[in-house]
Amino acid sequence: MSNVIRLAIVDPQDGTREDLKSMLLGMDRVWLEAECSRYEFFSDVVAQTEPDIGIVSIDADPEKALALVEQLNETAPKCSVLVTSTSTDGDLILRAMRAGAKEFLTQPVNLDDMVQALERINDRRSNRGDVKSRGSSVIAVAGATGGVGSTSIAVNVGCALADDERNSVVLVDLDLCLGDADVCLDAIPDFTLLDVAQNASRMDITLLKRSLTKHSSGLYLLPRPVQLDDVDEITPDDLHRLVGLLKATFTHIILDLSKSYGPLDRLALELADHVLLITQLDLPCLRNVVRLMMSFNEKDGLTDKIKVVVNRAGLDQNQIGLKKAQETIGREIFWKVPNDYRTMVEVRNNGVPLIEQARKQPITQQIMGLAAALDGDAEQDSEEDEEAAAKPGIGRWFNFGK
Ligand SMILES: Nc1ncnc2c1ncn2[C@@H]1O[C@H](COP(=O)(O)OP(=O)(O)OP(=O)(O)O)[C@@H](O)[C@H]1O
Ligand SMILES: [Mg+2]
Repeated sequence: MSNVIRLAIVDPQDGTREDLKSMLLGMDRVWLEAECSRYEFFSDVVAQTEPDIGIVSIDADPEKALALVEQLNETAPKCSVLVTSTSTDGDLILRAMRAGAKEFLTQPVNLDDMVQALERINDRRSNRGDVKSRGSSVIAVAGATGGVGSTSIAVNVGCALADDERNSVVLVDLDLCLGDADVCLDAIPDFTLLDVAQNASRMDITLLKRSLTKHSSGLYLLPRPVQLDDVDEITPDDLHRLVGLLKATFTHIILDLSKSYGPLDRLALELADHVLLITQLDLPCLRNVVRLMMSFNEKDGLTDKIKVVVNRAGLDQNQIGLKKAQETIGREIFWKVPNDYRTMVEVRNNGVPLIEQARKQPITQQIMGLAAALDGDAEQDSEEDEEAAAKPGIGRWFNFGK
């Protein structure tokens, strides 16, 4: 899986070309394959370097530039063209689109707009099968009630994803009052979400990266603010912009939500590609899942993103059975993480992730499986397989119970 978007730029004007270049060089997910200062040479450059996206800045000579866009569309159909111009003239935009441009950005190009345009092009390319890359994915981890294990799953799925060198992963702790993702990773961060929020308007990728703490697993962390009084300083707009910036650099952005389902949590649900709704197999949790799902039904597209994850499966004999749970909540369980109190207490107390301390344990294997499943690379064994495996003497780790 390639997560890097390869680009080539053409712009005869040195100033705008340099500005664009320095913005693109700040994005880790972007590889600048070639830059060119003459429209006449760009077709050859594209033919030789085969970039995913060609950026054509048209202001130096709009007629020549639009002819180039048309030519690229014919000779290099796999290269998606993005046009930039200082003009906002509707006619010009229309002509660019008719010539085959996939996106049109107004100069000076805003970083958010660039990230979103690249994402849209990448998504369309993935749908067409031109690339296997799925772009960057935002994973919100929400819980059906307090203490269900959302943070444990967010942190450990994050570390499992970061274990694959092709991924770059960041975890943002959105439990602004009581979040403890930093404790789970034994990290003492220099900066928090508040610093990023306060600098939101002048935040660029370099500054943002300096604000993150890198754990030895490879996972980057942005923790909750230190002071309770600072919590209200962080607005949904700040979060929106932050996620946009993070998308330019990271393949996976994990958001550990609070259980208050406040404005930031709700925005996180909206921005997410996957929502892991963590529950346990008891009545209060399952009732909350039903309630939450009913509220989610009212929001466009949210229900489709929900993946119900059962945590602490096999905790005790009185747990509600999996089939019954699925009937109650009216949808499939996406993944099950077994109960393993001893291992979890150990890793929490030591502030290390499961993959570092207990890689071979079934709980860790299931967390790694869940991480792979989010990328569409794994499926959990069906209940029948599990039940067969659960027969005495065949390595039972999980009792589905009644
Ligand atoms: N699969 C598991 N097996 C055993 N214990 C677990 C498991 N998952 C989590 N725990 C334990 O459950 C407790 C709560 O976990 P965690 O803090 O991750 O939950 P949370 O949903 O984030 O809580 P909060 O609502 O406070 O944010 C912790 O002590 C953790 O060690
Ligand atoms: Mg938590």
